[in-house]
Order: sequence, then C-alpha cells, then structure tokens
Amino acid sequence: MTPIRRDLLPDTATVDGSGRLAIGGCDVLDLAAEFGTPLFVYDEQHLRSRCREAVAGFPDGVAYATKAFLCGAMAHLAYEEGMDLDVATGGELQVALHAEVPADRLIFHGNNKSPLELEMALDAGVKRIVVDNSDEMDRLEALRGRGPAVDVLIRVNPAVQAHTHHYLQTGVADSKFGFALAGGVAAAAVARARASRAMRFIGIHAHIGSQVYATSSFAKTIEALAGFAAESAAEELSIGGGLGVAYVGDERAPSLSDWAATVRAAGESLGVTARITAEPGRSIVAAAAVTAYRVGVIKRIAGIRTYVAVDGGMSDNPRPVLYGSGYEAFLGRSTDAERELPVRIVGKHCESGDVIVAEAMIPEDTVVGDVLITPVTGAYGHSMGSNYNMVLRPPVVFVRDGSARLVVRRETYSDLLARDLGV
Ligand code: LLP
Repeated sequence: MTPIRRDLLPDTATVDGSGRLAIGGCDVLDLAAEFGTPLFVYDEQHLRSRCREAVAGFPDGVAYATKAFLCGAMAHLAYEEGMDLDVATGGELQVALHAEVPADRLIFHGNNKSPLELEMALDAGVKRIVVDNSDEMDRLEALRGRGPAVDVLIRVNPAVQAHTHHYLQTGVADSKFGFALAGGVAAAAVARARASRAMRFIGIHAHIGSQVYATSSFAKTIEALAGFAAESAAEELSIGGGLGVAYVGDERAPSLSDWAATVRAAGESLGVTARITAEPGRSIVAAAAVTAYRVGVIKRIAGIRTYVAVDGGMSDNPRPVLYGSGYEAFLGRSTDAERELPVRIVGKHCESGDVIVAEAMIPEDTVVGDVLITPVTGAYGHSMGSNYNMVLRPPVVFVRDGSARLVVRRETYSDLLARDLGV
C-alpha cells in the first residue's frame, strides 16, 4: 500500500529528509518523547485557518460546536477567530466561560437541559438557547416569570435523511431531537415562544446529522425549511453542523467554503430572507490533529493475523468501536514509507473490541517502541475519551511556529483517586 496521503495530515505537516514528521515546525517524535504517549498533537495554524474559513463562509454568524473537541485553549481560539460557541451541556458551558469566552457568544443546546443548566445559562447571559421541546419551554417559563426574555431558536426536525451512519443521523422523523416540522408541531412551538414572556423568538435551527459528505443534504434542509422560516418570520435559520471530513483511503470531503456556498446558494434561490448561520464541529478540528501512540506489543498469530498493540485505545478514540469508523496509521520516523504489512492495531483495554484500526497497513519494519501515528483524530476522540480500565487520559499539545504548548496535561493517578472517597 502507498504512503499516507499527505492531505490527511494537518496543514503545516512537513517531512524531513529522513522521513520524520513535523507539525507546526515541531518534530512529532520529539513531542512524543517530551510529553509521552498517547499524545494528541493539534496544528494551531490549521485550527485557525478552518475557523477563518467558516467565518468567511457564514458572515451572518457561525458557531464552533465544542462537543467535537473542547478545552480552554480551543474555546478561546475559536472565539478569537470570530466564532460563537455551541455548548450542549452545563459542563461545556463551564469550560467556555472558564476560557473567558463572553457569555453573549455562547449558544446553548441540548435535548434534555436540566433546570439547573438552564438557570446557569440564563444567569451567565448566553446569546441564545436552542429550545428542543415543550418541557424545556415549561422550565424556561418557570425560571423566567421574572427576568427578561431570552433569545431562542426553535429546533426543528425537518425529516431530512442525511447520508451518514444511522447513529449520526438526527433529522429523520424518528429522532429524539427537536420539534417535528410535520403535523404543525414546530409551528405550535414557534407560536408558544412568540407568546411567552420568557422567550424572544429569533428563528429556527436544524441539524440533520454528522459526517455528511453530500452538501446536497444541507441544501435539502434549506428547501425543507424555507417555507416554514418565512411563515414564522424567522430572523435566523441555522443549519447546524455535520459537514464530513476524509479519514481514509480515497475519501474526499467538500471544504467548509464549498459547504457554505451550497447552503447560501440554496437560501438565495429559495428567497430565504433570514440570516443563514451554521455550527460546524468536526470540519474545524478533525484533520488538525494526529494521535501519537507507542507500539508495545507485536503479536504474530500464524495463519491468522498480526496484532499491534499501542499504549492507548478505545479510551482515547472510541469511534472505531462505536461506529466502525476507519483510520489510517503510519510511522512517525518514516512518514512516506510504503505500508505493506497488514495488521490490526489494538489498544490496551481488556476487551477484544478495543480496536483502533481494524485493517491497517503499516511499514514492514515496524518494531516495538516505534511511534505509530493516526491522523484525523482531532474530532470526537479526546472529547469522547474515557477512563475505562482506569487508563489515564492523554495530554493535548498545540504546536505552532516551532513551539509546543501543553494545553491539557496528562491525567495522573491522583486525578483518578480525587473523586474516590475511599473505604
Ligand atoms: N450542532 C448540533 C446541534 C449537533 O448536535 C452537532 C453534533 C453539531 C452541531 C456538530 O456537528 P459536526 O459538524 O461535528 O458534525 N460522536 C459522533 C458525532 C456526533 C455529533 C453530535 N452532534 C462521531 O464521532 O462521529
């Protein structure tokens, strides 16, 4: 198999004469030695350039969906680059506020916001609440009989089938998210919000799913919502996030600019007068990062397969287990090497499903101690990580212009014991 496709690597990735990979001017093997493995390495210039592309593509407003990857440094970076932030829980809200992102740049999401979370959001003064259901409206009314009304978007389920894994579809009719467009449910929600003293109706929101390559699916969403946006006199129409990225082989994904252009063209051709906004997550961060692991075991089972075990696993990247997602792998010391050895890359967790790359091709001279790298791990890896088997969560470094900044330190055994009140 051929070497790793360079365009799966972060924008500033370079390879020196001996084949060693550098990102942001930092040698990745040196980073692995300094910070240990597993290690998430994010290319700061890549992150900033995707934020700028999103802001240029959606000049009427665009939020970074923090669920894809969140820490103080990322929250602040997206804010500095002009994005709002979508936070979907009290925890994400706290991290954003801790990162000194002004509350009026935060859009609060969630399909089951607790009274406490809503109170936190109102007290902080978030920019908008995206209201998902009538119970949430009850809660907002109970909380704000007194205070000023909060700006809301009504989450609408447009029943558009996005081309993606069914776990990642959110806009089909059978979904826990939003008010159905069908049967007048969403219209009733808009009427209720308009009449309420607790809410100020701003517009509507839809999110059809994630890892969607077909920009036509988003145009279809605009089509499905254009009439309703006009009837409800929405000032804003948010199409959510969901743009896919390439992970493996010959996959190709549209750029953020292509996505924005398609969505806005659909709006124009349908005479949509509402501001069209969006909230990408994955397409901002996924390809900005790689994970560096160290190979600990190479087990050749004659006539069956070769297992390569690394020092992380489903606790830093649960996507292969959850969705059967594919990744590529290569050696940090010989980035451009041919990859001719078929192996299964697994983690260190106590279950057979703990797979990082089910059918990987890596260089034949791979040995124990090598640094193995999986690209495109910047979205939904760190953020969906766990402590399964009490494995310590990896650190995150941001690299830029030859310097590395540790933005999340490695978890320690004392962190693990901090909440355990003992015998
Ligand atoms: N807005 C809303 C309301 C969302 O629910 C999501 C993602 C986004 C925006 C951002 O979507 P993105 O641009 O990242 O596709 N864990 C799964 C993805 C779950 C996405 C959940 N919602 C994965 O690893 O593929």
